[in-house]
Parts: sequence; structure tokens; C-alpha cells
Amino acid sequence: MPTSDNTEVIRQRLATLREQLDLHAYRYHVLDDPLIADGEYDRLFRELLDLEERYPDLRTPDSISQRVGAAPLDTFATVEHRLPMLSLENAFTEQELFEFEERLRRFLNLNDPIVYMAEPKLDGLAVELVYCEGLLTVGSTRGNGRLGEEITANLKTIHTIPLRLTATTGQPLPALLEVRGEAFLSMRGFAALNEQRALDGEPLFANPRNAAAGALRQLDSRITAQRPLDFFVYAVANPAQLAAASHHEVLQKLQELGFKINPHIRHCASMVEVATHFRELSRLRDTLPYDIDGMVVKVDDLGLQRRLGNKARSPRWAIAAKFAASQATTVLRDVEFGVGRTGAVTPVAILEPVTVGGVTVSRATLHNEDEVRRKDLHIGDTVLVQRAGDVIPEVVKAVTEYRPAGARPVSMPVACPECGGPLVRPAGEAVTRCVNQHCPAQRLQGLIHFTGKAGMDIDGLGKASLEQLAAAGLVNDLPDLYTLTAEQLQPLDGWGEKSAANAIAAINRSKQTTLARFLAAIGIRHVGEVTAGLLEQRFGTLTALLAASEADFLEIEGIGEQVAASLVRFFADDTARTMLARLADLGLALTPPRQVASALPLADRVFLFTGGLAACSRSEAKALVKTLGGQVASAMNKKVTDLVCGAKAGGKLKQAREMGIRILGEAEFQELVQETSGTEA
Ligand code: IVH
Repeated sequence: MPTSDNTEVIRQRLATLREQLDLHAYRYHVLDDPLIADGEYDRLFRELLDLEERYPDLRTPDSISQRVGAAPLDTFATVEHRLPMLSLENAFTEQELFEFEERLRRFLNLNDPIVYMAEPKLDGLAVELVYCEGLLTVGSTRGNGRLGEEITANLKTIHTIPLRLTATTGQPLPALLEVRGEAFLSMRGFAALNEQRALDGEPLFANPRNAAAGALRQLDSRITAQRPLDFFVYAVANPAQLAAASHHEVLQKLQELGFKINPHIRHCASMVEVATHFRELSRLRDTLPYDIDGMVVKVDDLGLQRRLGNKARSPRWAIAAKFAASQATTVLRDVEFGVGRTGAVTPVAILEPVTVGGVTVSRATLHNEDEVRRKDLHIGDTVLVQRAGDVIPEVVKAVTEYRPAGARPVSMPVACPECGGPLVRPAGEAVTRCVNQHCPAQRLQGLIHFTGKAGMDIDGLGKASLEQLAAAGLVNDLPDLYTLTAEQLQPLDGWGEKSAANAIAAINRSKQTTLARFLAAIGIRHVGEVTAGLLEQRFGTLTALLAASEADFLEIEGIGEQVAASLVRFFADDTARTMLARLADLGLALTPPRQVASALPLADRVFLFTGGLAACSRSEAKALVKTLGGQVASAMNKKVTDLVCGAKAGGKLKQAREMGIRILGEAEFQELVQETSGTEA
């Protein structure tokens, strides 16, 4: 045992070593400007490891030794992002960039120039890093935007992610900072990794992005540490944590805190400059040491960003400009027709496998009948296939010059390829559907969705098992799942005592779930995870949801007419109601959500607008109310609590006076939202 004097000496030596190593690693990895030779660095690092080995009590969570990885985990924990990690809308042409600017102007009612930041869109994985009092405490994947996987130990192995934020003189470190950026593998790192895998006889990664994903999802972070991952930061969840006024200021402050910022980020005084930078980046693309698949354009002014706010999945203040897609030619072998859970019949091209943009493509959607006609496809045709970044591959056209003699044109089936039932294509719609309510393919797809990751997430019941259960007549609809017993499963092919018991246990576990998960699982058209989350926040319980009207749905920010109509249709349907009742009888219990909505400052208030507003557009004002938890009415009714009067307010003002409703002038309204939006919606 060391004496306490000795301990103090060691502690100091460790502190010195860490300080030196931190500095040298920063110079080497972030600034690419090392101060000492590699050998010297290695010597210091070994001394640190040695001392920490001998005095494990003196290890610290921000020691650079953490970068070599830690003992393997059993599973990844799930973390909830305090603020959701959104995705981006895409622009595929320059024209669409200017249309984006038009939308901004309309929404903000603004004619002044808008300043942008244009950044390479890195083709890696989005991650969030949470720093508490300057110390990296949690790192996670984006996941579905709300829930991600905790991969702190893996992220700590990345040298360009600071374990502790650098304090600059005169500026206190933020108590909490949620940093977002892209973890990626350079092309060189990717090539080296695949070379090694080829030598070891292991399967190769298709592209740097997949390789980076594989590295980040290692339960053993010591393996992650051997993969040369890198990181560029591009945002913070809440810019208020950095007291910045613009996005470029955010980036500058992040750089001061020790992060690496991409060198090709440009501050652009107009959309014309943005477009110029886009062309520049497209040219640079092939010379960069890492993959990028486009450019992200962000409104620089954080005040404007806040006014613009978010839609359900993406912010209004940013857009991703995608590079032209990579293309390749291959042969169309066949066309299959898939039947989805809504009965939609989708033609799928079966292709001679071909590599497009680094990924092997052997199937591509042909969308619908019109697309097939328009492309005049024949089996055996040579076709042009393209893939744009994360977009699913598609067939662009047939190269008719190469068409083999006697090739058979592709035509839509006349009956459902699965059940033989009638197909209907309603006038004005592009989709052909099987309208047989009992179509087994639709039911099966519905079951697959229900048990899948985006649904109830029931382990041990994959597509093949469900096909088997349906074929055995054990499961025909969703409630049937909850009547299954281990005794029924066991005798089936491929099942044993243990797997049957596990599957039943997983099914039973899924009985306790949230309203959001359940809504996303039961397959209401146009209702996915995001919309389900909005419905849960607004209604809390299934009973409240069942009592809601179309107008109630439309009051939710992020729900439009199509979704509202689909909800009404679903809940009015007898089959659906019977299914819900049966599920409840079988013990499905929805846990109440955390009270998010009512915690928002304008919860319980319903706003009605009248007259013209001067400072912002009507849509902006409405979006603001909804973001702060309030509701917006489209006409005077008993639920309205606040009337906001702009110029030339009409009859509504008189009505409001008679009804004793609170009346706000525009200035008062602006004051109210400014006061309340400090809470960061
Ligand atoms: S900003 C709300 N900036 O693109 C804004 N994203 O669809 C969110 N990405 O997977 C992101 N480079 O990881 C932003 N410079 C950049 C980016 C970037 C790549 C990725 C991001 C996410 C996707 C957004």
C-alpha cells in the first residue's frame, strides 16, 4: 500500500502526464500539428497506463487512458435525448434551394437578406454527447430521434471527442451541454480495416458508413478503439447553453471547447453564395478524405431559427442539398409484386446485383403502375439504376437500345398476387390495392409490423416465425398473438422448449407498453412513431384519444388533414374497435405517459387569431403557440381562451368581449411568447 505522501506524488505525476498527453493528442488529432514525436508520446502514454494499473483508485473518468476501451457490455442501454434529434428535408436541385428560401420568407414575412451556414453533409452516424460540468458523461446514437443507444465507452475511444471541455479564460463552462455531430471513418481508415478483415477471412464492409456503424455498435469498446473513427461536431441541442446569437458563433465556441470543426463550412451572405459553395463542394467531394453526400444549409441567425421552429421530423430552418446520385447499369431479371399491410401492390425490380455508390443493389422499387408504364420496362432490359445517399435505390430508365428481341413488357397483375382477390385503383390515385379485407398477405405484413422494431418490438418473433404461425392457423390477427401458448409453439418446426418459453415471455412483456408505441404498432395509415408520440402527448390515454374529433387532431402541430382523416377513419371502423376491445380483454395495459404537454407554458390555452399581424406571419404565430404547448382554434368556440387581435380585427373581437375571453394585442402576444419560450420548447 502506498503511504499517503507517496499517493500525493503519484496523483501529481498522473495529473501532469494527463495534461501533457491531452495537449499532445489535441495537437495531433484535432489540429493535425503535433509538437512531439510519436515515440515520445507513446512513452508518456505507457507511463500513464502503468501508473493507473498500479493505482486504480487514482483513475479519473476523463483520463486519456479511457480511449483504449473498457470491459465489454452485455447490451446497450437506451437513452432518451432530452431534445429530439431531428432529421432534414432534402433538396435535389439548386432550384429547390431557392424554393426553400421562399418558404422561409413567407413563413417569417421577411424581405431582408438571410445569412446561411453551408456545411458538408457528412456520411457517417449522428451521435449526441452530453457534458455535465464539462465532463463527457453520456454518448448515444441518434436511434429513432427520441431514443438512442448508450455508447459512451465507444465514443470515448474517438480521439477528436474531448473527454473534458477545454476551459477558456474568462468564460465559465456550461453546466450542461448537449453536443451533436457525426462520427465517421475516413476512406483510408476504411480501406485499412477491410484489408485486415480480408486477411482474417472476415466479411468486408460495403462502405465507410457501414464500417463506422459496425465499430460504434461493438459491445467491446476495445475493438472500437482499434478502428480509426473520427468526429466532426455540427450543432448543440440547445444553443442557449452556449449563449450564442448565431450558428457560426456556436461552431466557434465549440472549437474553443476542444472540438474539431469541418474546414469546408462557409458563412454565406445569400442563397446565391450557398449555391456557389454547393458547386464547389461537389467538385471537392472526390478529393476529401471522407465521404460526404451533400451539403447542409442552415439559417445562421439563432433568433430566426427559433422563430422558424420545427416540423414533426425536421427543422424549418435547415435543408440538406443532396449531390447528384451515383448511377450504374444492370439487367432487369424480373418484376415481383409485393402486397403491403395496407394492401398496396408494389412492383419491385429484381436486378442482376450491381454496385452503386459503394452498395450492392439487387432489388429496387418501381413504386406503382404509372412508373412502370412511364419507364416502359421489359424483362431482360438493361436498366439504369441510381442511389442518392440514404435514399432507396431506384430504376431510372431502360436503355432501349439494348433491349433483347422478343422481350416481354412488364404489366401489373389483374388479381392480388397473394390471395387472388380483386385489385382496385381508385380514380386519381397512383396506388393499386388489394381490397380483400381477409387477404392473408396484408394480415401477415400487419403482424410483422406490429411485432417489429417500429411496433411492439417483440423479441424472438421475426418474419419467418410469423409466417409459420399464420400458416399453422395459430395467429390470424393481432389479438391472436396474445392467446398463444408455449405448448402450441413447441411442436412447430424449429421451436424448442426454451425458444417457445422466451417468445411467450416476450409477448407477455409487450402487454405493458406506452400509448405511443401501441399506436405506432397497430398500423393506422400515415401514423408512424413521430405522429404516435404527438398523439400520446396530447391525449395521454386511449380513452381520450377515442373520444377525439377530427378538429382535435388538427389542432396538433405536426398533424395535417391527411393524418387527421386517417385517424378518424380508423377509429370509426368496427373491426378496429373490436380489435382494440379484444386486446384490452387479453390484458394489454397502456402505461400513462410522462406529463410532457402540460409542463409546457401554454398548455391548457386555446388561441384564436384575428386581423393581420405585423411582426410575423399567421403561420409562424400559430406554430409558436403549438410549440409552447397551446392549441389553435380556427373559429370561435367555447374552448377558446385567448383572442389575439392584429390590425383590422373583425367580428371575432366583439364576440370575444361578449364571451369574456382574454384579448391580447399583437405586442402583448409577442411579449407572452417571448416570456414563455425561455423554457426551450
Ligand atoms: S444538422 C436538425 N449538420 O444528416 C438538424 N446534420 O438528416 C440536424 N448530418 O443524420 C442535423 N452532416 O447526422 C447537420 N453538417 C451537418 C451534418 C448533418 C451530416 C447528418 C446528421 C443526420 C442527418 C440529418
